[in-house]
Amino acid sequence: MAGRQLTGTSNASIDSPMAPDGPDLLLRRHRAVMPAWLSLYYDEPIELTGGEGCRVVDSNGKQYLDFFGGILTTISGHSVPEVVDAVREQAGRMLHSSTLYLIRPMIELAERIAQLSTIPNAKVFFVNSGSEAIETALLLATTARRSNKVLALQNSYHGRSFGAGAVTTIPSWSSSSFKPLAVATLPNCDPFRFPGEQTGHADPMTRCLGEARSTIDEVGPWDIACLVAEPIQGVGGFVVPPDGYLGKVKSILDEHGILFISDEVQTGWGRTGEHFWGFQAHGITPDLMTFAKGLGNGLAIGGVVGRGELIDSVSNKSISTFGGNPLACAGALANLRYLFENDLQKNALVVGDKLIAALKQGSEPIAIVGDVRGKGLMIGIELVEAGSKTPNSTAATLVMEKAKEAGLLIGQGGTYGNVLRLTPPMSITEADADMAIQILVDALWATSHSLA
Ligand SMILES: Cc1ncc(COP(=O)(O)O)c(C=O)c1O
Repeated sequence: MAGRQLTGTSNASIDSPMAPDGPDLLLRRHRAVMPAWLSLYYDEPIELTGGEGCRVVDSNGKQYLDFFGGILTTISGHSVPEVVDAVREQAGRMLHSSTLYLIRPMIELAERIAQLSTIPNAKVFFVNSGSEAIETALLLATTARRSNKVLALQNSYHGRSFGAGAVTTIPSWSSSSFKPLAVATLPNCDPFRFPGEQTGHADPMTRCLGEARSTIDEVGPWDIACLVAEPIQGVGGFVVPPDGYLGKVKSILDEHGILFISDEVQTGWGRTGEHFWGFQAHGITPDLMTFAKGLGNGLAIGGVVGRGELIDSVSNKSISTFGGNPLACAGALANLRYLFENDLQKNALVVGDKLIAALKQGSEPIAIVGDVRGKGLMIGIELVEAGSKTPNSTAATLVMEKAKEAGLLIGQGGTYGNVLRLTPPMSITEADADMAIQILVDALWATSHSLA
C-alpha cells in the first residue's frame, strides 16, 4: 500500500528495505516477547525502515514527514552524510575500549560540551541515555549535599529507571511508587492551567513562588539536596513556564545552598530557537545539567555536565563500560559540527515561529483546540472538550491517526494524553513546515467535526 507521495524541497524518495514480515506479524511477535508496558503509537503500529532528512518510510513503503524525530532525538535529520561518515570511519577503526583507557573523541566532546554549558570550571560524565544521566545527576547532588531529599516539579518526566522514575511526577509515567529518594513537588506554573486560575489569583507567578517557598519550608530546606527541573516540560505536554520563573525558584534554593539540576534532555542543543539551553530563558546557570537525545542524532549517548567540584564529589572509584564510547562520541562530534555549520538553532527559531503562528491562526476557530504553545521546534497543541478546558485525549488520539494517514508523524503527551507534540528535526524546511501545517489543520477540523 503506497501512501500519499510527499513532495518538498528535499528527499523525494527513500528506499524501504524489504521487510521479512509485515507489521501485523511483527506486532504479534513484539507483544509476545516485549514488556506489556512498552508503549506503542497508533491502532496499527508501524515499523520505520529508512529515513533521509526529515522524511521516513515504513515497511509498507509509505512515506511520512517526521515531526517527532524519534522523540526529539534526530535533531539534524535522518542519514546525515557527515554523521554517517564519522560513525563509519570510527567503526572501521575501533568500536570499543571502555573508560579504562583514554578515549580521544570522548575527551574532545567533553571539552566542547563543558564550554557550551556556560557552567564555570565544568566537567562532564558520559552515559548512554537520559535516564542514566538523571541517575548520575541525582547521585552527585545527593552525595554532595549528604541527603536524599530532592525536589521535582509537578507534571515532570525524567526517565524510567528507579531514581529517574522517583522524580517523575506524571502519575501514569512514574515507573514505581517505591522511591529511593524523598521527593517533594513544586508548582510547574503552567500558564494554561495555572494553579491560581481557580482562585482568580491576579499574579500566578507570585502564587506559584509562594507555594514553592512553603513546600521548601515544610520539607526543611537545610538538607534538601536539589531541585531537578525541565525548563520546558516534554512528556508533560510542552508546558512552558513564564520566562524567569525557574530563576526566581533558584533564588529561593540559593538561600539554602540547594542545587539546581536543569534537565536539558529535550530542550538542549538550540531546539527552543531563542537559546541553546532551556535554562537560559530563566536567567540562571545550573549547578548540574543533564543531556541526551539530540546529542547523538540517534546514537545512544547522554551525560551530565556540572561544576567540577560537584562532578568530583563521588569519592569511590567508578567506570562506565559504554558511556563515552568512541563510536557515539565520534558521531556526536560530527552532529554538533553539522548543527553549528548549518546554524540549526536559527532555523529552529525561524521555522518554529512560523509553525506556531500558522497553527495558532489555523486552529483558532476549531473548538477542540485549547492552546497552541511552545518555543522554536518544541510545539504543543492542547486539545480540550469544546468550550472548556477539560482534557480531550480521545481527540488527540484521533488527530494522531489522521495525521499518520495523511503522511505526518507527530507525538502525543501531557498528564492527560491530550497534547499533540511537534518536534521535527531542526533542519526542517519552510516548505515541509507548510505541508505539516496543512495536514494538521485538516486533521484537527476533521476530528472536531467527528466528535461534535
Ligand atoms: C526531560 C527528559 N529527561 C529524561 C528522559 C529520559 O531519557 P531516556 O528515555 O533516554 O532514558 C526523557 C525521555 O523522554 C526526558 O524527556
